[in-house]
Parts: sequence; structure tokens; C-alpha cells
Amino acid sequence: MSVRYELIAQCPETGARAGLLHTPRGTFKTPIFMPVGTQATVKTMTPEELQDLGAEIILSNTYHLYMRPGEALVKEAGGLHRFMNWPRGILTDSGGFQVFSLGPLRKITEEGVSFKSHIDGSQHFFSPEKVMQIQMDLGADIIMAFDECPPHPSTWEYARNSLDVTLRWARRCQQAHHREGQALFGITQGGMYADLRRESAQRFVEMDFPGYGIGGLSVGEPKPLMYEMLDVTVPELPANKPRYLMGVGSPDCLLEGVARGVDMFDCVLPTRVARNGLAMTSTGKVVIRNAQYARDFEPLDPNCSCSTCRNYSRAYLRHLYKAEEILAYRLLTMHNLHMLLQLMRDMRQAIIDGSFVAFKKSFLARYGQESQ
Ligand code: GUN
Ligand code: ZN
Repeated sequence: MSVRYELIAQCPETGARAGLLHTPRGTFKTPIFMPVGTQATVKTMTPEELQDLGAEIILSNTYHLYMRPGEALVKEAGGLHRFMNWPRGILTDSGGFQVFSLGPLRKITEEGVSFKSHIDGSQHFFSPEKVMQIQMDLGADIIMAFDECPPHPSTWEYARNSLDVTLRWARRCQQAHHREGQALFGITQGGMYADLRRESAQRFVEMDFPGYGIGGLSVGEPKPLMYEMLDVTVPELPANKPRYLMGVGSPDCLLEGVARGVDMFDCVLPTRVARNGLAMTSTGKVVIRNAQYARDFEPLDPNCSCSTCRNYSRAYLRHLYKAEEILAYRLLTMHNLHMLLQLMRDMRQAIIDGSFVAFKKSFLARYGQESQ
């Protein structure tokens, strides 16, 4: 087995669990947040800085790396870890989600998906087998099965067909996958339909993957509906395997996801909003360009121990941002990543200490429930 989940502690009142994910690359503490490095870089951060932040595993994308620079080049470089100088964990997403996001540029058949490049308009085809070959060449520690993520809203019939195609593709992925030490996770789907969510989870569990992605969520539905879908999906998944909620990463969703038994998350949110001048702090969002910070010589978040907060003031960050200095994006990215990584560490400790429910309540009271 290429990855093994070990349960360390469980919250008696919720589904929250603290665990360890043992992989050939090392052991990751769960629940865990994976910063997103779409193009083999977590934007503005060096891998050395990411290590200092305590990131243990990052996510990268099959679609983008296939397009540029191409998986053959990454393989020639000795794989993605060597290519980008990141010695810790890497998970690659299968490209399913990215290809479907192309909208009118793609066409789905039983065989796979044909699509046009977002870079030069050239024609390409992804099948489950092709996506396995690309991900084996990239050489991540965890790879994802090729799936179809139905748009929201979708009819029950559409979600039902999509679920069946995704299962057949997952079987083809299992058959095509052969790389020692690399784990292939399945991705459960089912749209916003409880019966389909349950069925998808059950049928994936029968196929015995070493871990399970929960896909097709955070696609524009209200948050309570996403939580409902988690409530019906997670109980179907085996307790001895990791569960990964894909594309989710706002602080409130991380808390609610962990409370429902999710172990892994990824999201562009902390890095993307940082480049738009938004800091996520212990007391909520800070829009750094706002005039109220012009003469605010206090740190971004007095409760934060990141190097941005230890060394720079809100006034300075505002100045950098308004001057469009690259350092603004770097410092805000560093803070936002630290904030989420620290939140995961704090949740894990609270689960171990038996205080998860109180922790969640006090965090949300300070941070504020985010709207959709
Ligand atoms: N990222 C966020 N949601 C999804 C999903 O449903 N499928 C895949 N492959 N990636 C995702
Ligand atoms: Zn900070």
C-alpha cells in the first residue's frame, strides 16, 4: 500500500479526526491543507519558504503541466519534486475539473474528453489512460482518477449519467495505473443529490482506493447544501482511509469540513486573494488598500506569528500594494498560507485535546461566518 492512514484521535461530539498519512515521501499530519501550485509553483513563494511555513504537501495540476512545459520534460528533469525543488508531498489533480471548466472548448464522450488549449487553441484529448500516463510521468505521491464534475445546477439525470461515466473512467484509471509508491485516489461525485452521493461513495468504496476525493462541491452551491452533501457522503467512506474535500479552503468551510470527518483540503483561495490585497486574519478579512490602514502601524494580525506579521505594518503593506510592488503579493501570500496552515494545526491539536467543538465555536465567533 502506497499510503496508509492512521487515526490518532477523534472528537466525541463531531466527526472530526486527527490522523497521520504515511507515504513513501514521509508522514503528513491530518487534517491538512494543501497549498495550490498549479504551474509547479505556489505563486510568489519559493519551496524553501513553503517548508518554513510548515506546508507538508502541495497540489499541482495535470492539465496545466501537460500543456506547459509538458510531462515529458518534467520526467526528463527527474520528476516534479526534482524539477521544482520540493522535497515534500505532492498531489496532482487529474485535469478533469480544469478541462470541464473550459466550457464550450470541450466535448465529453465515453472514451474521454476532447478540448482546446487555453494557451494556443490547439486540439487535445484526455482519456483515463492518458491522464494516468501524464500523472505517472509527473511522479506525484498521490494522483487523482479522471472524473467528470457536473456543473451546478445539474438535473438528477445528468448527475446520474455523469456518476456512471466517472465510475467507468475510475476503473480504467485503476487498470492503467502502475507506479510503485504512488497512490491513486478515486473521486466521488453525485451532484447535489443525496441518493447519488451515497451511491457514488458506495461504489467507489467497493473499488477499494487507498483514499477518496469528494468532488463536485464548492461549485457555486450555497454552503449549507455542501455541508448536507458531506453529511451523506462521509459516513459511507471507510474509517481507515483518508477523505479529501477538493477545492475547498475558506476558514469556515475548513472547520465545517473537518467537523464532518474530512482529512485533506486544497484551495487557491489564500494565494489568489492575497494577490488581490486581501488578508485572512483571526478577526476576519482585511482589505489592505482601504484608507483606514494608511497610518496603521500595527501588524496585519497581532495574533499571527508569521514573518509578515512579525516584521511589517499594515501601513507598509498598504503602501506596497498600492504601488503594485511584488513584495506586497509575497508578504500577503505568506501570511494567508500561514494563517490556514496554523488553523489546521490548531484544529488537530484541539481534536487531540478534546476541545474541538469549543475551538470551532470561538474561531467562528472571532472570524465571522463568511457569506457565500
Ligand atoms: N477540484 C475541485 N473539485 C473537483 C472535482 O470535482 N474533480 C476534480 N478532479 N478536481 C476538483
Ligand atoms: Zn501573519
